Amino acid sequence: MKTAIFPGSFDPLTNGHLDLIKRARRLCDRLIVAVLVNPDKSGLLPTQKRLDVIQRALGNREGVEVKAFSGLLVDFAKAEQADFVIRGVRGVQDLENEMPMAWTNEKLLPGLETVVLLTRPELAGVSSSLVRQIAHFGGDVSAFVPPAVDETLLRLYNKLEKPDDTPEGGE
Ligand code: PNS
Repeated sequence: MKTAIFPGSFDPLTNGHLDLIKRARRLCDRLIVAVLVNPDKSGLLPTQKRLDVIQRALGNREGVEVKAFSGLLVDFAKAEQADFVIRGVRGVQDLENEMPMAWTNEKLLPGLETVVLLTRPELAGVSSSLVRQIAHFGGDVSAFVPPAVDETLLRLYNKLEKPDDTPEGGE
C-alpha cells in the first residue's frame, strides 16, 4: 500500500489544491492532506477551521485523510509511514523553491521521494495569498476556491462569526 503526503499551509485551500488532491489520490492508496501548524504565524484561518473546511470541500473521499502536523515534515512522514510527498508547481519559481526542500527532506529521511505535479494551466494563477488579498478587500473569490471555503471567507469577512468561533466578548 502506497501512502503519500500532500503538505501545505492551505490558508485557505484553493481550487488548485483541490485539483492536485484529486490527481494525487490516483497515484497512491492513501493520501494525507497535511496542514502545517505554524506557531509563529497565526494565518487567516485557525488550524481547526482550516482542517474542517478542507474536509468539507473534499467530502467523504475514500483514501484521503486530512491531518494537522507541526515540526518537520520528515518526522510526520516517518510517523505515517509515507512513501512519498506530493507538491504542486505552478511555474519555474515554484520549482526553484521546491527543489531545495525536496533535496533536504530526502537527506533527512533517505528514500522519501518528492513527486511534483504540474498545476493545470487554468489554475496556475490561483494562490492562497491572492485569495486572502481579494477576500480582505471584499472581492469575490468564488472562482478560485471551493464553495466551502468561499462560504467560510464570506462569514469571516462579513464578521458573521469570529475566525475561531468564540462568541463576541468571549475568551
Ligand atoms: O503551502 P506551503 O506554505 O508552500 O507549504 C510549505 C510546507 C508546509 C510544505 C513546508 O513549509 C514544510 O514542510 N514545513 C514543515 C517544516 C519542515 O519540514 N521544513 C523543512 C523542509 S525542507
